[in-house]
Amino acid sequence: MDQYKKGSNVREAFENAPYLSQKLENYFGVYEDLFGRFKGTDCTFMEIGILHGGSLFMWREFLGPKARIIGVDLNPNAIKWRDHGFEIYIGSQSDSDFWEYLKTVVQDLDVILDDGGHTNEQQMCSVIFGSSLVKDGGLLVVEDTHASFWPNFGNPSKYSFSNFAHEVSDDLTKFGRGEKVTKLSALVSEVRFFPSITTFVIDRKVATEEPRAVSNLGLVDIAPDMRFYGSNRLFKFLIEVDRALSSGRNIGMSRKWLRILNPFVSSRAFAMPRKLTMRLVKSMMAVNLRITNFLSYYKLVREYSKDPSGV
Ligand SMILES: C[S@@+](CC[C@H](N)C(=O)[O-])C[C@H]1O[C@@H](n2cnc3c(N)ncnc32)[C@H](O)[C@@H]1O
Repeated sequence: MDQYKKGSNVREAFENAPYLSQKLENYFGVYEDLFGRFKGTDCTFMEIGILHGGSLFMWREFLGPKARIIGVDLNPNAIKWRDHGFEIYIGSQSDSDFWEYLKTVVQDLDVILDDGGHTNEQQMCSVIFGSSLVKDGGLLVVEDTHASFWPNFGNPSKYSFSNFAHEVSDDLTKFGRGEKVTKLSALVSEVRFFPSITTFVIDRKVATEEPRAVSNLGLVDIAPDMRFYGSNRLFKFLIEVDRALSSGRNIGMSRKWLRILNPFVSSRAFAMPRKLTMRLVKSMMAVNLRITNFLSYYKLVREYSKDPSGV
């Protein structure tokens, strides 16, 4: 095992492969990062897309002789790579029946790497059907994701793979709010975006753990959360009014104003107008936030991110 830990790096293995393979230069660093821990192990590694066969040899040299290397391709001629000791299955990555078949012959995969046809549908199918074949701690890796921005793949589009991948990652980020768009949130614990490669980390336990807020029960300082105070004076005022109306407490408002407001805040007679005012204030806050979000997005993303050095 140690021999292979020290053995070829993936770039060397690529150069040594006797058959053609073409990859983007930056992929080798990403492969080392993602797959380095599988070197010298008896991992199960499946690549979708064989073409000239070069990458099958690359993976064998890189991962070592204990690795089970599986190739999948639509091209029936690819079956010939079985003669070189690889496990080959012929079928389409966008065919759910083919995935059902694969399930009967391969399970508990450490890695599925999709270097197949790169259409939106094909890449999404790999993730949707392939994820359940990957064991916990394993990876589902889709490469050449730049196809999501290529016109000859019908992109860029709302229905691109990239958009789908971001929806999966958004599902991870919702923290109990908002409906999950994909069911993959039961399998995927992490989504990692690299240039032209997107990786879904599969971990069912982590993925299905309910997010839980915890406190260290430390001492409370009299410190207001000032997140909205920085640049938006109107919002600051609305917060003050909201706080004063809802609890009678306030932080920045002068005592004089509070005294004047007091009957309105505490008297039963004002319960209904107080409720209506609070509703109005909340709506104004929501509108204010939307406008501020739009303006800051426009400024930061359109203006500064064109020239990050100018920030
Ligand atoms: C980019 S090449 C693979 C290159 C190979 N991985 C390498 O690095 O040397 C793409 C391969 O995907 C295969 N392919 C295209 N559409 C497919 C599909 N729907 N299902 C399975 N394989 C497909 C093609 O036949 C082709 O061999």
